[in-house]
Amino acid sequence: MTAPSRNIEIKARVRDPGRTLELALGLGAEDRGEISQRDTYFTRARGRLKLREQDPGEDELIQYRRADEAAARTSSYRRVSAGAAGELREALDAALGTLVVVVKRRRLLLLDGVRIHLDQVEGLGSYLELEAVAGTGSDLDEEHAKVARLRAELEVDDDALVAESYSDLLLDTPELLLRAAEEAMQRAYAPYSNFKVGAALLADGGGIHVGANVENASYPQGQCAETSAIGALVAAGETRIAAVAVTAERMEICPPCGGCRQRLSELGGAETRVYLGRPGGPLETTTIGALLPLAFELDAP
Ligand code: THU
Repeated sequence: MTAPSRNIEIKARVRDPGRTLELALGLGAEDRGEISQRDTYFTRARGRLKLREQDPGEDELIQYRRADEAAARTSSYRRVSAGAAGELREALDAALGTLVVVVKRRRLLLLDGVRIHLDQVEGLGSYLELEAVAGTGSDLDEEHAKVARLRAELEVDDDALVAESYSDLLLDTPELLLRAAEEAMQRAYAPYSNFKVGAALLADGGGIHVGANVENASYPQGQCAETSAIGALVAAGETRIAAVAVTAERMEICPPCGGCRQRLSELGGAETRVYLGRPGGPLETTTIGALLPLAFELDAP
């Protein structure tokens, strides 16, 4: 398999995009103008998978992996030219499902091997991205230095840095997670209790993994929705939970059982948000830590 390409990159919120543009042009950046981009992110991908439809420019399928850090980080990616983008989007949606669509206008500038993106993202606002494209075999020091220098020149403060991708920012809403949980709930197998439950977990990698409760004629053999979802998340190659939603058919707010709280705390942090409720309905927002204080942790042997 060919090695992926690599970038060193940052993302930051921008309060005054006009000023950032002025600064970039003042540094001698080459202005490539505005591009309309529509990125469709698909579920069940390892890392992230998006189809970018853009004008002007060639449509492309982009697979990438990047740590969620509010600092300069490495992105490993593959870009594949997508001729029949509309058909490809429909095929991927049918096979994998669509996670979220990110629509933005991007002003692209180039300076000294660094791509400068001034993005206006629907539903999120204004952002700046810097991407230093790494040469093959580079130890990435030079790319880190370029991003650090340009970041200072464009006056990007630490507290403006953003760790998440646009898809995560749009997704990290209770509504979307609850919708995914509700969909899974409808497929629950609960003929004994007649109490259907669905759970959706947002993974650190950005994907949503769902589960439903699965009962058994030998009652104790049943499995909760949260546990099913944890299995799906782990099987997809993820190891950390970024947010949780639980929806039940016959209960407005369905708190996870004790066993599932322990299981969730294994892969999520004390601060990880838990949304209990229904799409468009009553919502209780809590955290894994609040649901299970003093969670059991095994000391490393
Ligand atoms: N159940 C869940 O799936 N998750 C919860 O948070 C609470 C309970 C399931 C287990 C069983 O199949 C049914 O709900 C009734 O207890």
